[in-house]
Amino acid sequence: MSTDRFTTPFERPRRLRTTPAMRKMVRETRVHPSQLVLPAFIRDGIDSPVEISSMPGQYQHTEKSLRELARRCVDAGIGGIDLFGVPLEEDKDPQGSVAWAKDGVLNRGLQAVRDEVGDALVIIADTCLDEFTSHGHCGVLTDEGTVDNDATLELYAMQAVSQARAGAHVVSPSGMMDGQVRVIREALDDEGFEDVAILAYSAKYASAFFGPFREAVGSGLKGDRKTYQQDPANRREGVREALLDLAEGADMVMVKPAGYYLDVLSDVATVSEVPVAAYQVSGEYAMIEAAAANGWLDRERVVQESVTGIVRAGADIVLTYFALDEALLA
Ligand code: PBG
Repeated sequence: MSTDRFTTPFERPRRLRTTPAMRKMVRETRVHPSQLVLPAFIRDGIDSPVEISSMPGQYQHTEKSLRELARRCVDAGIGGIDLFGVPLEEDKDPQGSVAWAKDGVLNRGLQAVRDEVGDALVIIADTCLDEFTSHGHCGVLTDEGTVDNDATLELYAMQAVSQARAGAHVVSPSGMMDGQVRVIREALDDEGFEDVAILAYSAKYASAFFGPFREAVGSGLKGDRKTYQQDPANRREGVREALLDLAEGADMVMVKPAGYYLDVLSDVATVSEVPVAAYQVSGEYAMIEAAAANGWLDRERVVQESVTGIVRAGADIVLTYFALDEALLA
């Protein structure tokens, strides 16, 4: 027998996997409820919540059911709620002007949630026009039909200020217009909302995984968002977008979608001096729910694993439709 084996014994990483207690002790990544944010929808003109068929378990809420949901978020100890509005069809116009109306559906939802839970939850507003425009794009259109970056900025500024007024702690520009963070920061400061934070959707990709969300908000979009959202093939550009948002005054930056963009998330987490969020989007949710409903995946374990992977890659905050799920709170 060679003595080599004794002078240079091989390593045994398995020692740290022997018991559940051991595995738990040496675990590198822990998902805590306080870092989870639940995206939620409030819809105008309905009497009771409407389930979103492509997102089983998720609803378009009435003001009343939204208040109850916010309460559940507080009781579960999660970090925040991110609100999206679904207006009446007849309230949509080419500018999306109901987005900044004081009594617009999203602003009413923000007010109701702030009234219900106060500061017990971080209340985040989606700052974008796509739910409110008749054409479904995230900004106003030029005569040629392209999305007009600079003309859209002043509308975002009005929307953000109206959301701060309605009670949002955080506004979150998600429209991928260049310069949106700076214009919103200036508008908020001018109106005395220096303490309202900006969560910038920095690296947001033109993703097919947003599919179910379009049903959730009753989007009228024809065509795509490829002239403003990023090409899924681009990694370096995600870092560039994040650095620009940081320079413009973002308080937090985001990568979206999450699970298929962990490389971008990791890159952004490496350079960011502010908290980094990742959004596990509607399609990521729908795929897991569909497979679980067929008995093809162990739902609870996949929910845990998918969110753990996102945190392991560098997310401090995870926006996920699973935020209130037992799998993450247990
Ligand atoms: C745009 C917006 C979208 C999502 C969040 N904000 C849709 C889009 O860009 O087309 C998608 C979220 C999801 O898929 O869960 N306001």
